[in-house]
Amino acid sequence: MHNETADVPLTAEAVSGVLGPSAFVRNVFAFDSVDSTNAYAKTLIGQGKTDSALIVAEKQTQGRGRLGRQWHSERWKNLTFSLIVKPEVPAGSIGVLTLCVAESLASAVQTHLQISLKTKWPNDLLIDGKKVCGILMESVMMGEKVSPLVIGIGLNVNQRNFPSDLDATSLSLSTGKPVDRLTLLSEIVRKLAWLDRPVFAPDVEKKLEQWKARCEMFGTMIRVQTGEKILSGIARGIGEDGGLVLDVNGTEQKVLAGDVTVLEVDK
Ligand code: BTN
Repeated sequence: MHNETADVPLTAEAVSGVLGPSAFVRNVFAFDSVDSTNAYAKTLIGQGKTDSALIVAEKQTQGRGRLGRQWHSERWKNLTFSLIVKPEVPAGSIGVLTLCVAESLASAVQTHLQISLKTKWPNDLLIDGKKVCGILMESVMMGEKVSPLVIGIGLNVNQRNFPSDLDATSLSLSTGKPVDRLTLLSEIVRKLAWLDRPVFAPDVEKKLEQWKARCEMFGTMIRVQTGEKILSGIARGIGEDGGLVLDVNGTEQKVLAGDVTVLEVDK
């Protein structure tokens, strides 16, 4: 049986209908169940199908998270989707693209639902300190060239229960009512349409500044765990490659991947 929230199922017809003919995505693929929308997107690219596309699934059997983790999402409740895009960005900006995408997502959700979202390096969105969204950007090498990008987004929309060790939340837990996933999806895709147009350095800088303004760790003491390695220092900024710049006892160090814990909230 389908969901009891009476939310409209995310069929290709329903999704294409709500996006409308002017949406930048040329192809829509919708699955009731798939291994991973990112994996499916990469298969399409491998077959030479590199036009912009949206791949959405009600359930993923092998949803992928960052750092080799799994992404769990309750069937019919949330948004789990991937976009295939070929962004024309200035050289050196690709590293901060995830942050720019996170900012667009936060802004789309915030405008649509009037709730405040924060960013967390590198690719999370938080509500009241709890994770509501994760982004996984992947690319495939095609000979010498990097392929189109796959932007995978997992957004907790109407799920109400989460394992306690996840420290996660959903949009409907925050608004107190069910959220229409189709309308929200179309708002998000609309807000990400800049990925389909040439992007200039000032646009990237502006989005990065907005991302930083939403991020509550700068100037505070944080701990970053990368595999076995733990680094503590004051969060200072973001490098051109999207890496996090830390002041560790007066020496600048950069981390490219890891999990951040804020140790001290007051500046
Ligand atoms: C993270 O926070 O670790 C990133 C999670 C990204 C999950 C999304 S769900 C849709 C897309 N398909 C996947 O397999 N993963 C991403």
